[in-house]
Amino acid sequence: RILIIDFGSQVTQLIARRVREAGVYCEIVPFNLAEEVFPTYGAKGVILSGGPASVAETGTPRAPQAVFDSGVPVLGICYGQMTMAEQLGGTVESGHHREFGRADLNVVAPSLLFTGVWEDKSKNVVWMSHGDRITQMPQGFRIIGISENAPYAAIADETRHYYGLMFHPEVVHTPQGGKVLKNFVRNICGCAGDWSMAAYRDETIGKLRAQIGQSRVICGLSGGVDSSVAAVLIHEAIGDQLTCVFVDHGLMRKDEATQVVGLFRDHYNIPLVHVDASDTFLSALDGVDDPEVKRKTIGKLFIDVFEAEAEKIGGADFLAQGTLYPDVIESVSFSGGPSVTIKSHHNVGGLPERMNMKLVEPLRELFKDEVRALGRELGLPETFVGRHPFPGPGLAIRCPGGVTREKLDILRQADAVYLDEIRKAGLYDEIWQAFAVLLPVKTVGVMGDGRTYEYVVALRAVTSVDGMTADFFPYDMNFLGRAATRIINEVRGVNRVVYDVTSKPPGTIEWE
Ligand code: XMP
Repeated sequence: RILIIDFGSQVTQLIARRVREAGVYCEIVPFNLAEEVFPTYGAKGVILSGGPASVAETGTPRAPQAVFDSGVPVLGICYGQMTMAEQLGGTVESGHHREFGRADLNVVAPSLLFTGVWEDKSKNVVWMSHGDRITQMPQGFRIIGISENAPYAAIADETRHYYGLMFHPEVVHTPQGGKVLKNFVRNICGCAGDWSMAAYRDETIGKLRAQIGQSRVICGLSGGVDSSVAAVLIHEAIGDQLTCVFVDHGLMRKDEATQVVGLFRDHYNIPLVHVDASDTFLSALDGVDDPEVKRKTIGKLFIDVFEAEAEKIGGADFLAQGTLYPDVIESVSFSGGPSVTIKSHHNVGGLPERMNMKLVEPLRELFKDEVRALGRELGLPETFVGRHPFPGPGLAIRCPGGVTREKLDILRQADAVYLDEIRKAGLYDEIWQAFAVLLPVKTVGVMGDGRTYEYVVALRAVTSVDGMTADFFPYDMNFLGRAATRIINEVRGVNRVVYDVTSKPPGTIEWE
């Protein structure tokens, strides 16, 4: 197995993901715990992540000396390359300008790291993001790749199996980067590559049993894939120590409540409490139009309801949530790091400080497609595993501005018609997520012989692999015309439909 030492990069989890894709087990440890973890971990190789600090400054983090003394292969990425170079006797200076984005890598010497990937080709696309630069390499190293602005873009000591990259092989913008990481963990570190989601499931079940013991767990179901997979996984681990609670906050899509309750009670036979709390949520949201206030209001009420339900079943020590890695990274501002809060996802940043249950989040390290793979491993029906993501705050964040029952009803109907058209056109599985948004704007129209003055619905559909970046879905115009006509004809209160063609970034997937 592989140990990844995290120096605070936004994309460290992507390294873990690529290593898992190569069929190899790995764990991430923050740099300040690495000294303690490494000696007993049994790593076949170590990856040093990127990070926001500068090696040239004093007091910045370093890899444990034990890593270099142990003789295991080491791959340093960006900051990881810099600290490795400095720790092994090279010289690093703070760069005069930071370099971001696409660059062409010229491979200048053969290396095990690039075997079968780039070999002798020039103009290989890589994604740079760094500030420091090496001015003198440590002994034993040579340059294996250069780019226009980075004479030490890739360096290697093939004898000791130390490699340093100034670019990020883990991001999708380095198209062959996954193969480079695979070379490292499989060919250089000698890991077998037989690790799979089935193994992940078994390991996680073991960890859950150890964490939870005989305690009771309460799990919020939202109807989405994440909370469902989390619930089924935890149920496999601890059986009926788990109680699921489905809080209907009145912000669900059409028929959602019935579907979720039916599925869990009838199909899985997992204990489920169905709470209709729509009055509470909608009155708390009355007059609230700021997106962050909305999210925090909903997050807080969820916890209130859970705590009340937990009390009814005689107390629960743990609250389980289907939090995924992208939720974590977008909600949490790492100390000293460059990652800022974009939105308070209600299952992470929206939690009140005073919550008196501990959290169980078995999917916290995974990306959506990995959760789907795990869901299949757990035997969830394909129709459920393939469902588009749905945010915890529900339709509230698809009603920009104030939320009212009337608006929610209109939105619910428009959304149902839109999704029906998508399914009929056979497009559902090609799209990562599609939904309608009810704009807080009325416009003038003409229907029959009369003037109308009604709401605008915006349609959104995006493709994505992990929800962290996304592109708008390129519908055929006929499809959009059909969906618009049906929505205007069938949904009272709407007289205009527009299509959102913004990617993420600069937009986000949801509108709030
Ligand atoms: P954004 O809008 O940030 O969304 O581009 C990325 C993905 O996350 C979903 N999302 C949420 N999921 N709780 C969740 O469980 C939330 O508060 C939340 N906010 C956004 C969003 O639907 C998309 O799939």
